[in-house]
Amino acid sequence: MTIYIASDHGGFKLKEKIKNHLVKKGFEIKDFGTHSEDSVDYPIFAKKVSNAVTKDSNSKGILVCGTGIGMSIAANKIKGIRAALCWNEETARLSREHNDTNVLCFGQRILGEDLVLKIVDVWLNTKFTNEERHIRRLDMLD
Ligand code: RB5
Repeated sequence: MTIYIASDHGGFKLKEKIKNHLVKKGFEIKDFGTHSEDSVDYPIFAKKVSNAVTKDSNSKGILVCGTGIGMSIAANKIKGIRAALCWNEETARLSREHNDTNVLCFGQRILGEDLVLKIVDVWLNTKFTNEERHIRRLDMLD
């Protein structure tokens, strides 16, 4: 599976931590930037990751900004993207099981690194339940 990842300046440091964590675990990573703490506009990066995820069925996306809110709003505007701003392992697990989320968002100002890496692991290791009621609701979103 390929993980497409990006951040704005407000999420740059956490994005690098997540990327290193996933590289160590053997995931193929494509980093769309940003590559420093110089100010940039988060919608551009959300769009790059979201478009890549919609074109690659064996992929997921991770987006980081200061709060995670701008990234999640921007990603969810792209058809086919179900982006979740998760704040603990339970929301990460349920976002996969019930919502089949394909993009995970974080706020660097909001959560500590250790918790973020746990959330990433749970999210990547949890499958969609494929239950009829959840499929029906996701179809409604489309
Ligand atoms: C950038 O200052 C900040 O607004 C951005 O990182 C994010 O928090 C937006 O939702």
